[in-house]
Amino acid sequence: MKIIVEKDYESMSKKAGKILIDTIKANPKIVLGLATGSTPIGLYKELIRSHREDDLDFSNVTTFNLDEYIGISKDHPNSYGYFMYEELFKHINIPMNNTHIPHGEAEDLEEYCKYYDDLIQSHGGIDIQVLGIGENGHIAFNEPSEYLSIGTSIVELTDNTIKANSRFFGSEGEVPKSAISMGIGGILKARKIILLASGETKAPIIGKLLRTKGISTMIPASFLLLHPNVTVIVDEAAYKEMR
Ligand code: GLP
Repeated sequence: MKIIVEKDYESMSKKAGKILIDTIKANPKIVLGLATGSTPIGLYKELIRSHREDDLDFSNVTTFNLDEYIGISKDHPNSYGYFMYEELFKHINIPMNNTHIPHGEAEDLEEYCKYYDDLIQSHGGIDIQVLGIGENGHIAFNEPSEYLSIGTSIVELTDNTIKANSRFFGSEGEVPKSAISMGIGGILKARKIILLASGETKAPIIGKLLRTKGISTMIPASFLLLHPNVTVIVDEAAYKEMR
């Protein structure tokens, strides 16, 4: 695991942006794995800036998102589909057909989970996967528990995650209780992984992750230790406990 510590949120986002921009320039047909949450917004701003100022071309880029809530429609302002459109897709020249977000309203969700994994593989797999991290160590919506899913699956959100994500909703009661999420095995299939963390609320989990001696299903992000090409980019605040 390579660790890069940047001064603040802005420089963390710029650093991650540069890695992605350089890779898209080198491989315009790249398959990107994208994340939601507040953390990657600065990175998406960098991609938009590069598209506007340097004509970074997304016309052949394909994207797969990690997760989506179950129980809200894709047009809901808190759905991850809506988020991706507002924060990235509508500002760049990516054909919407090239973008994929798990379909939380699929009729047969179990069947859909298998289909989503097959779809990723039929595109040759993910070249670079962007990840945030939950305060409890979740990646995508793989919550700490005795067993972690290998492939895309339906997951129940923990109280901790519902509380953390309630800041985007009116109240905790409005946060969906379940989601569809890529599994740990799917994430580890990506050829390269970039995990971002910013701010003091992430300091305890970043400290735990970087100090852990092994993998634990109670720290889902610790499975990244099994991957040969992971870069963790954090800001000073998130790295606080490692000083
Ligand atoms: C959400 C998402 C994760 C994200 C995490 C952290 O629950 N499912 O993919 O990494 O929360 O979010 P934030 O970046 O807002 O702290």
